[in-house]
Amino acid sequence: MTETQQILADLEWQVSMGADEVVEETPSLPLWKRAADKKPNTSLSLKESSVNPIPFSPKKVERPQNPPLVQARSLEELKRQVVNFEGCPLRTTAINTVFADGDPTSPVMFVGEAPGEEEDRQGKPFVGASGQLFNHMLEAVGLTRDKIYISNILFWRPPGNRTPTDAEIASCLPLVERHIALINPKILILLGGVAAKTLLRTKTGIMRLRGKWTTYAPSSEEDGQILCLPTYHPAYLLRQGNAKRQAWNDFLLLKNQLEEITR
Ligand code: URA
Repeated sequence: MTETQQILADLEWQVSMGADEVVEETPSLPLWKRAADKKPNTSLSLKESSVNPIPFSPKKVERPQNPPLVQARSLEELKRQVVNFEGCPLRTTAINTVFADGDPTSPVMFVGEAPGEEEDRQGKPFVGASGQLFNHMLEAVGLTRDKIYISNILFWRPPGNRTPTDAEIASCLPLVERHIALINPKILILLGGVAAKTLLRTKTGIMRLRGKWTTYAPSSEEDGQILCLPTYHPAYLLRQGNAKRQAWNDFLLLKNQLEEITR
């Protein structure tokens, strides 16, 4: 792979992980540094950088063909509905449906993006490498997997772990919204750009959203709003170790809020 191809691959990966915005004048990412190292006079400012910008081609917004009518009155009923749901094409390529893990009565619900290879194999969310890091992060703030509830925006693994399409996300959204309504957590933590953009219905990227409390309001007539905190996806942290400090701060916000609620 040439250096240019490597830079393009790195950028594509960052965008797919939700790091799709410029938030600082000076980039700290290794790929920019590598390019700059070759040209000693090149400023690291993104504005003035001699590194060519990557052409951005906005994704066409696809609409789901048959949005599901979600009337499930219990978690068991919803799970049955998800397992039998034929509106998301990912179901046909996945080994298992990955519904959720943890305690459905927990005050905290986490929502990630989509199952990976190991999750697909075991039929459980966050059991692969990012799941291991997630468990460590929980432990760091005195939580364990059996004290929280966790699920994803998609119930099936996208082939090769590719980024899910808008249509795939939209097809599962009514099921996810019903899922959140049935769990009715006190706090909703959104892991990564896909979960944050989808559930907050925003185009703002995770770099700007993370670490700021907001509220999740379902699009249907479900009642109430839920306190919500977007943070980085653990898979992003595995690749971008220097973002762990910010993620740690986010988990401390969660810890403090949980203490407030359970006081
Ligand atoms: N990444 C996710 O977003 N969810 C999983 O379940 C595993 C990895």
